[in-house]
Amino acid sequence: MKILQIVGARPQFIKYFPVSQAIEIYRNNSHADIHNILIHTGQHYDYFMSKVFFDIFGIKEPEYHLGVGSGNHGEQIGQIIQRVEEVLIKEKPDVVLLYGDTNSTLGGAIAASKLHIPIAHIESGLRSYNKKMPEEINRILTDHVSSILFCPSEIAVRNLKKEGFNEIINAGKLVEKEYIPTHSLTNGFNSIVLNVGDVMYDAILHAVKISEDKSDILRKLNIVSEEYYLLTMHRAENTDNKERFKELIRFVGEVSKKITVIFPMHPRTKKIYNEVREKFPPNVIIIEPIGYFDILYLLKKSSLLMTDSGGMQKEAYWLKIPCITLRDETEWVETIQSGWNVLHHNYKGEHHTHSEERLLYGDGKAAERILKIICKLW
Ligand code: UD1
Repeated sequence: MKILQIVGARPQFIKYFPVSQAIEIYRNNSHADIHNILIHTGQHYDYFMSKVFFDIFGIKEPEYHLGVGSGNHGEQIGQIIQRVEEVLIKEKPDVVLLYGDTNSTLGGAIAASKLHIPIAHIESGLRSYNKKMPEEINRILTDHVSSILFCPSEIAVRNLKKEGFNEIINAGKLVEKEYIPTHSLTNGFNSIVLNVGDVMYDAILHAVKISEDKSDILRKLNIVSEEYYLLTMHRAENTDNKERFKELIRFVGEVSKKITVIFPMHPRTKKIYNEVREKFPPNVIIIEPIGYFDILYLLKKSSLLMTDSGGMQKEAYWLKIPCITLRDETEWVETIQSGWNVLHHNYKGEHHTHSEERLLYGDGKAAERILKIICKLW
């Protein structure tokens, strides 16, 4: 069978890694004839936003690099649709695999669905219920044209149920590793919803061990374990509004008066930071974006994370680092319920940590489940 995957933005390279590994393993174990084609839309193009991930994970070069680059939403998504469509017509894959909620996800979803190619959506069912976030629009639209909706958690399944999806496997609980679908795509079905766990958990379990051996970022930055906070901030809703951005600069300054803060700055944040008068205090050290192993290691050795990233909220939870989320809501509500995460407007000046034994996002075998299910549906 022919699987075509589409990636384009930083977090998607991370999510692609465990899936590409699972394909190799499945191919070797079952001798199945799986043809795996990768499209990189080019949404992210800086070395540290893109290629560094292919290098560290040893992922093969994409078969197609579409070179779309930055732009307004219409321009960027429009170009993705157009260029992905050309590849889909040529390659005629059996299924298109999409990740998360970026403009690359939505562009791929529109191109594939218009050509009647079934879509499997990884990280399906997430909702912040804030339609001002571009990602929220991307998620909703992608889910509603997908055939196989791979959710990372029970809450994500519940969100889809509210939107009318009714073919829900195992009542939304994590599907068994041995689960074999009785549906068949060749007979046609509308859509099925499965909780397979989170592929980012698969990725982190693998990467955290490597990062301990490979990363020398603490030495490079001349900082000591647990004597600093880590900060990341790049979301459009924080960086496109100067007042909001300045407010967050003040919040960070207030929370971290007596401690060093390391801030790998995303290119879009750098742009606006250079335009505003408000500056971080000198204990906030701004560095270039860094690779996955370095950021994981920095997070693991920090004493607190402040972030507006979706992925990093979960990584903090998995690594048991308290997190303050620099947003007004989050789609990863389980991290808040478990006590490891707090929204910045609810932060009361103390780091609330809580030990939660139950695994919220699966068991680190999401990619294996995804592969098995896709292959059995044909
Ligand atoms: C995108 C995703 C967001 C994800 C983030 C991860 C959408 C709508 N958003 O946001 O969900 O969390 O990726 O990083 O798809 N830029 C560069 N070099 C690059 C990439 C971007 O300089 O390699 C700058 C450009 O000025 C660009 C801006 O960053 O205009 C925004 O990039 P874009 O890809 O549009 O969205 P992100 O903010 O990265």
